[in-house]
Formats: sequence, structure tokens, C-alpha cells
Amino acid sequence: MMKIVVLSGAGVSAESGIKTFRDGNGLWENHDIMEVASTEAFKRNPALVLDFYNQRRRQLQTVEPNSAHIALAELEKHHDVTIITQNVDDLHERAGSTDVIHLHGELLKARSTVDENLILEWKDDLNIGDCCDNNHQLRPHIVWFGEMVPMIEVASEIIEDADAIIIVGTSMQVYPAAGIIQYAKANAQVYFIDPNPSINPTKRISVYAEKASTGVPKVVEKLASMS
Ligand code: APR
Repeated sequence: MMKIVVLSGAGVSAESGIKTFRDGNGLWENHDIMEVASTEAFKRNPALVLDFYNQRRRQLQTVEPNSAHIALAELEKHHDVTIITQNVDDLHERAGSTDVIHLHGELLKARSTVDENLILEWKDDLNIGDCCDNNHQLRPHIVWFGEMVPMIEVASEIIEDADAIIIVGTSMQVYPAAGIIQYAKANAQVYFIDPNPSINPTKRISVYAEKASTGVPKVVEKLASMS
């Protein structure tokens, strides 16, 4: 039984129909980050920000996990797997993964604008006037640009114990998430899956320059055969 840590990004959900952020026609090509994903934006125009996440929340409930999500859940039959995801969708959990850490929040949750620990399950649209029991406006439970990433220390500690690391569908451009790799053990084997890989193969890093739906099952099969 190995300790396997997965670091996933938007690319793992791309084949489920959820847009990535920085690819052609990605979310950030069609929306200004500072208009929809920052604390200032929410102060300036909360309706615009809420609408942006309402659209994404509605869409999330129309898509399904893909073969990459399912293969990672299957890997739990062979090894001790933790998924550290930058994604705010629930596709890893819906595929059956039981140990998932969301670094950037969760779309199907809302939280108080006053007490950040007051977090509610939230599946419907979130609108101005939707308040917590203490009568404070609710906001999406998402980590916006410029905000702290509360789970980063927990994630860094978990990656320190990894025997193998699977990195899938992330451009590795957003910190501190992209930086947690530095906490990995020197002999931990890394499997990097991305059709446009941003890193080169080394003795320790195997690069699968392909989509998650084909690359992840290959890596899972390889690791499963090691159990
Ligand atoms: N399979 C695997 N990888 C894919 C696929 C696919 N089918 N399609 C695209 N990719 C890759 C792209 O090549 C790219 O490297 O997924 C990556 C997506 O990168 P980004 O859009 O930058 O997404 P991500 O790295 O998850 O963004 C990090 O930035 O915008 C913020 O908070 C947001 O969590 C997000 C963070």
C-alpha cells in the first residue's frame, strides 16, 4: 500500500464539459478575473459576481464525472489516495473518491460574509438578500484572488508523505497551490498528465502529454500493479 497524492486542476474536468480557465475559450478569456473573482469585485458589483457563480453552479449539476475521475476513485482499492484539487466542482466526490481536499473552495457551498467558518450546502442560485441565520449576506464558498488558501498547510503536510504524486490538468501557474510540489520527498515518483505539459520529463517525473481520460487510467493501472 503506497501513499498516493493527486494534485488536480481544471483539465481533469474538461472532458466532463467544464471549461478550464486559461485554455483557448477558457473562463478567463471570457471574463475579467478582477470583475468576477476578487473580494473587491464582490464589494463593487455583488450581483455580477453572484451571477457568474450561479451560472457555473447550474452547469455543474448538468455534467458527470469522466473516466479520469472514476479511475482515481478506483485507485483507492489498491493504495491510500488523497486528492488535493484546485477545482470547485464535486466530480471527484461524485466519482467515489473519499479523501478530497479543495484548495480553492466548493461551488455547492456558500458561506457568511462575516463569519468565514459559517459554511452551508448550497445547490440553488445564490442572490442578494440570501443570508445566514445571523442575517449576514452569503457569498460563494470560493477562494478569490488575493484571499488566503486555508487548506494549504494541511495539503503541504500530506504531500510530504507521498510515495507517488499524480499531477493532472493544471497549468501550475497559480500559487500557493502550484508550490506544494516542493514539499514532496526527493524519491517520490511524479506522473504529470496534460496534453500541453508545462514541465519536462526527468528521471523522477514521467510526463504523459495527453488528455486526462486516457492518461489517468494508464497511470492508475501502473500504480495498481505495484500494490
Ligand atoms: N486533460 C488534461 N489536462 C487538460 C485537458 C484534458 N482534457 N484539457 C486541458 N488540460 C490542461 C491544460 O493544458 C492546462 O495546462 O489543463 C490545464 C488547465 O489549466 P488552467 O486553466 O490554468 O486551470 P488550473 O491550473 O486548474 O487553474 C488554477 O486558477 O483561475 C484559478 O482558482 C482557479 O483553481 C484555478 C486556478
